[in-house]
Amino acid sequence: MTSFPERVFSGIQPTGNLHLGNYLGAIVKFVALQKTHECLFCVVDLHAITVPQDPKELRQAIRRIAAAYIASGVDPAKNIIFNQSQVAEHAELAWIFNCVARMGWLNRMTQFKEKAGKDRENASIGLFAYPALMAADILLYKATHVPVGEDQKQHIELARDVAQKFNNDFADSIAANGHQGGFFPLPEPLIQGPAARVMSLRDGTKKMSKSDPSEFSRINLSDDADAIAQKVRKAKTDPEPLPLAKDGLGGRPEAENLVGIFAALSDSTPDAVLQQFGGSQFSTFKQALVDLAVERLGPIGAEMRRLEADPAYIDSLLREGSRRAREIAEPNMCQVKDIVGFIR
Ligand code: TYM
Repeated sequence: MTSFPERVFSGIQPTGNLHLGNYLGAIVKFVALQKTHECLFCVVDLHAITVPQDPKELRQAIRRIAAAYIASGVDPAKNIIFNQSQVAEHAELAWIFNCVARMGWLNRMTQFKEKAGKDRENASIGLFAYPALMAADILLYKATHVPVGEDQKQHIELARDVAQKFNNDFADSIAANGHQGGFFPLPEPLIQGPAARVMSLRDGTKKMSKSDPSEFSRINLSDDADAIAQKVRKAKTDPEPLPLAKDGLGGRPEAENLVGIFAALSDSTPDAVLQQFGGSQFSTFKQALVDLAVERLGPIGAEMRRLEADPAYIDSLLREGSRRAREIAEPNMCQVKDIVGFIR
């Protein structure tokens, strides 16, 4: 297998409010990776419409994700920040991948099963083919590393399977077109960290999610200090004091979640957090968590609101980002077409 230059790609759907899980599971990693890597950060609006969206709200949600990237510290000059639908090659490559991926692979995707629920017959074809589009997002840029939360691991594995099958199926044509080894890299997920899977504040066994009907289940990036304080204070816990070390968190999902969140927000580890708070009651720990969360998230929310008040500015950034993304996407797509046997 050829070695590919390292390149980072990730995306967030413009649906609902961004929450602490999106921030800690994904955006914090983007901010760190921009220091060492060439990065593309996408607002995946084509993915958003796999379930119905109100067009007016969708436009605002696209801008909100872009604002969240920038407000969190992703530099739009250094990195490519753009929305997926402005680079037509995503949809083009996704079609080719629809013809590479197998029904059986997609049938196994847990996110599809969850989102489609019992009424599978009524789910859109886009929702089923969603992971093939995600593979196209990543591979269009030959990205090698994909920072995501744990819930996306299965989708990245599918992207690896698609890359591998394309490389195998078209091996002769890839060689005939002058490429050494495989054409696509096998992208690696970057998942590790104390907040790879942030859980609901109401139920430590359920993922924090945009679609949970309870607002108290999640902290949104747009929450003000009062809302953050209320949600943390109301967060479910158990009656025991905090344990002295990480091992003591076993079987205590709510405690484990809050300690993980504290560790992630303070760039620390669960063990270090428990060295400080082991033996404390939750009331003490929750107050410290409120202070930390407000200190860390407050300025981001404020900056998001400032940016969102100037939609023309965000739109111009997205247009410029999309132009830069196309500079990479277009030549790669031309090569894919040659490999597949299209005339252009
Ligand atoms: P999305 O929009 O659901 O979530 C965006 C990112 O947030 C992470 N995340 C979490 N991390 C930790 N704890 C949680 N509770 C939590 N909830 C969400 C997700 O793992 C994700 O990293 N399919 C993707 C979007 C996508 C994409 C891509 C990602 C489309 N194309 C290409 C990477 C590369 C999604 O629905 O993410």
